[in-house]
Amino acid sequence: MYKKLVAEQIYPHIQQYVTLDEVESLIEKPKYVDKGDIAFPSFTLAKHLKKAPNVIAKTLAEKLNHPLFEKVVADGPYVNFFLHKQEVSKTVLTTVLKEGKNYGKVPLSQGENITIDLSSPNIAKPFSMGHLRSTVIGNAIANISEKCGYTPIRINHLGDWGTQFGKLIVAYKKWGNEQAVKENPITELLKLYVQFHSEAEKDTSLEDEGRLWFKKLEDYDEEATHLWEWFRNESLKEFNKIYELLQIKFDSYNGEAFYNDKMEETIHLLQEKNLLESSDGAEVVSLEEYSLPPCLIKKSDGATLYATRDLTAALYRQQHYGFQKAVYVVGHEQSLHFQQIFNVLKKLGFHWANEMVHVPFGFILKDGKKMSTRKGKIVLLEEVINDAIELAAKSIEAKNPSLPEKEEVAKIVGVGAIIFHDLKNERMNNIEFSLEEMLKFEGSTGPYVQYTHARACSILRKGSSFKEAAALTGLQDEHSWNVVKLLVEFPSVIEKSFINYEPSQVAKYVIDLAREFNKYYSHVKVLTEDEQIASRLALVQAVTIVLEEGLRLLGIQAPKEM
Ligand code: ARG
Repeated sequence: MYKKLVAEQIYPHIQQYVTLDEVESLIEKPKYVDKGDIAFPSFTLAKHLKKAPNVIAKTLAEKLNHPLFEKVVADGPYVNFFLHKQEVSKTVLTTVLKEGKNYGKVPLSQGENITIDLSSPNIAKPFSMGHLRSTVIGNAIANISEKCGYTPIRINHLGDWGTQFGKLIVAYKKWGNEQAVKENPITELLKLYVQFHSEAEKDTSLEDEGRLWFKKLEDYDEEATHLWEWFRNESLKEFNKIYELLQIKFDSYNGEAFYNDKMEETIHLLQEKNLLESSDGAEVVSLEEYSLPPCLIKKSDGATLYATRDLTAALYRQQHYGFQKAVYVVGHEQSLHFQQIFNVLKKLGFHWANEMVHVPFGFILKDGKKMSTRKGKIVLLEEVINDAIELAAKSIEAKNPSLPEKEEVAKIVGVGAIIFHDLKNERMNNIEFSLEEMLKFEGSTGPYVQYTHARACSILRKGSSFKEAAALTGLQDEHSWNVVKLLVEFPSVIEKSFINYEPSQVAKYVIDLAREFNKYYSHVKVLTEDEQIASRLALVQAVTIVLEEGLRLLGIQAPKEM
């Protein structure tokens, strides 16, 4: 904290030797709290000045002062800065209260577009745990990017195209039942798909029929299109229930099918640039120079592929949105695919391909094993979410039975618990899925942060009559200082979390802040009527602002009461 301020104070004294950025990068946190809040080591300067570091530290310490420094002392080769707690807390609290929701904004962009490819489930298949992770992580990255000045565009690249739709049409025509599909679209369609595969083992002509129907679909045959649209709509209705629960909205649902009539152009472009090679009758782009296997563009039977559609989608998105960055939040199993796509675009000469990133993530595990939707073991996500809401409702009933709008709060807490449980871990880690764990009101959980926020809100309600009474004097005790120091960190946490596409940094931060605040609250009587009551209430208010905003960035709401 306050690295910049300290760097700016030191810099004028040593500007012949180092740049301001270098000074800032040298600044560290003292190893022990009693050594101050910020430390500047003089080793680097010693080389330039050809003087002992201890001497340099001593000279610098004598020259430095600022109203926000309580004292500056040399300690061996270090210059240690003790911040003026009262002055600093006064400035920090004033800033957070004045900026409100806007506190923490980082000016990394002037509103440029960033496309976030997220969620992207497959039509006629269950919404998997992987899709849940993509949805939750992608949405948080979108929120965080917005806080950094970008304009996020959330794109749900639905898996709504490919030979499997030919197979599904064949299966439906042979064994399907309209009413059953309407009642339980995903389960029924998956059943048909599975049946297709077991029957095709006995009767190979089914595969040909499937291909034929997909060809018809590609050629806009009326019957094929009609059935496909229906499957798509029914599946989307199911997916939308999940999005509704998670409160997530998309800017586009253009999935793979959207690119059906646009792929010819992509193939032309590759031909024009002489990038297409035939290999066993198929058309590929060689990626030898990147030590990657070739990217398959067209199969020998003329069918296009997942990669063809992703290339076309990237070109379309660049044309349509002029994105400055393009982020793909997709499981790590698809790493190779994205490397191939990005490198083909680079070979086409598009410099913007350097701003495309695949943001991978690990699996969700149940009892140490991957939670799978295959082999008929469908974990219906909607049920899982509803279970979480029910558990939250039970906790609320036990803790606060007279709470107004209990149902609404239970929804926010249940859903928040699921999202937080996902985001508190670094995204590449596998996560053990446990409803009991994630719904605990203590420990590193969503409900814990929400509960802390609600508790802070209740203090504010009780203290509302004192607030205007006294002036903001600032605070100097250890407990409030620990909270203030964290409040200062918020913008840099957001910046780091965006740069690393790692929402877990925001999640860990809100946990730390909630913990520090709870310590403060158990040690300090906020509502004692003395000359610092306004400052203490300001601290409580600043905490509610930052907790609410931090949770919002993660896609979680913060009830005022729970
Ligand atoms: N539908 C794919 C799947 O479920 C994910 C799509 C990811 N996005 C993309 N542009 N390829 O595996």
